[in-house]
Amino acid sequence: MSKIHNYSAGPCILPPEVLAEASAAVSEWDGHGLSLIEMSHRSKPFVAVMDECRALTKELLGLPDRFDILYLQGGASLGFLTAAYNFLPEGGQAAYTDTGTWANKAIKEAKHLGTVDVVTSSKASTYDHIPALGEVDPRNAYLHITTNNTIYGTQYAEMPSSNVPLVADMSSDILSRTFDPEPFALIYGGVQKNMGPAGAVMYAVDTERLGATGRSIPAYLDLKVHLDKDSMFNTPPVFSVFTTMLTLRWLKAQGGVAAIQAKNEAKSALLYAEIDRNPLFVGHAQEGSRSHMNVTFRLTDDAHAAAFDALWNDAGISGLKGHRSVGGYRASMYNALPLDSVQVLVDVMNELERSRG
Ligand SMILES: Cc1ncc(COP(=O)(O)O)c(C=O)c1O
Repeated sequence: MSKIHNYSAGPCILPPEVLAEASAAVSEWDGHGLSLIEMSHRSKPFVAVMDECRALTKELLGLPDRFDILYLQGGASLGFLTAAYNFLPEGGQAAYTDTGTWANKAIKEAKHLGTVDVVTSSKASTYDHIPALGEVDPRNAYLHITTNNTIYGTQYAEMPSSNVPLVADMSSDILSRTFDPEPFALIYGGVQKNMGPAGAVMYAVDTERLGATGRSIPAYLDLKVHLDKDSMFNTPPVFSVFTTMLTLRWLKAQGGVAAIQAKNEAKSALLYAEIDRNPLFVGHAQEGSRSHMNVTFRLTDDAHAAAFDALWNDAGISGLKGHRSVGGYRASMYNALPLDSVQVLVDVMNELERSRG
């Protein structure tokens, strides 16, 4: 079979060496005589996996000591509610930025627990940019941001400066670029893009800011309960955590986040240059808000759709269709996608221009 160039938005491409090691461990894990997924999560070898996964996450994100890491179930969708439960005080309010579909879901969940102050929005222009942010009312316990908007293909070029602590859904750009963790109280993200296979959500929690809401929190939603149990309050998603640990080892061996950021920037620069050059294509996101992870674009004339779709399918490209809510195309270029795959897509876009010219 010829090579597939996997542009899926998530679950998505993972490094081949990670897939090889993970699949071997599902058959028989490291001389233990059992599959990874038929061993107790309380066994010594798996506890070591959880510990390494948490430690590597903190190291690669460059987080100070006050942060601690959790790997739980429920995805980022449960993270929307968990974030509010743990940081939105009883009777209080929090600021949210409205930058797309996932940001809206976060807003909706927080409204179960308090007042939500939507401080900025790019809805009026179909979420084609990251909207400017003024001073946030200091009565807000935190400012929630979605650092990368997977569906619309926008991303904060720089993390916003804020007069209140930041809470961030980083599901689709975590570990793709360096940032200053200082203003953050909580970072969370489903692992199924840059970190590993679906099944877990990662929380990086500022332990010094935790426990100040004055509310009674159901056990599974209480981050302190999970921290006190070293992320083993209940059965963790063992395969997802193990494979995430392998992906983190891989990332470290690549030179860490700064090194992968340089590669990610080279990949997105190549594709955006072609979108800007080729008269058959137009990008969705405004310059200055363009995502390095999810590049959204469309044809200037839909009459070319059948020809373009045939060309990229023939080239072994998969997962290029835009999200069903917006249409067009979306090239998701997570950490494990090689530059070669981007070149194949650019060549196909060129080929379309030649064939239509
Ligand atoms: C930015 C962002 N937030 C949240 C989610 C939801 O994640 P999950 O499916 O883990 O609940 C996604 C899923 O793609 C996402 O891209």
